Amino acid sequence: MTGPSSTAPKEANTGIGLVRTLILVASFTCILLVLGFLLLSQQDPYIQEVLRINGSEENGAILFRMNCAACHGINAQGLVGPSLQDIAASRRDAALIKQVISGRTPPMPSFELEPEAMSDILAFLHTLS
Ligand code: HEC
Repeated sequence: MTGPSSTAPKEANTGIGLVRTLILVASFTCILLVLGFLLLSQQDPYIQEVLRINGSEENGAILFRMNCAACHGINAQGLVGPSLQDIAASRRDAALIKQVISGRTPPMPSFELEPEAMSDILAFLHTLS
């Protein structure tokens, strides 16, 4: 016999190859997903530290006047930068902290604040409504 019998093993091989490839791709995707979740759940130690501290609103208000009011207005009503009224209702704490320290959105600079000062500002941002 020539035709079919000689091609049969070849087809079977390709089938196994395809299954192997699919399994490989699936495992690779799983590994990537797990790594992604791990990275997402791991929070910046600075942010964790800020969130652990119970910040002082009064101190935060002073720090806000010194560092932020020039752009966001003395009452956080907005000026060069947007109004920050009710900001804590629409942004998570971690996002607010990142906004202040990252400098991702010029012209807002990145602030290098001690975790205590950052949590004071965060406490103050929570009073805006
Ligand atoms: C030089 C001007 C400037 C200073 C100083 C400044 N900001 Fe900003 N800020 C901005 C601008 C402009 C934006 C809008 C950025 C964008 O989204 O493109 C912004 C955005 C923000 C946002 C996000 C608002 C939103 O609706 O998402 C927060 C929160 C914020 N600033 C807090 C602060 C705090 C707290 C300080 C002081 C520690 C500060 N900013 C100092 C200009 C400034």
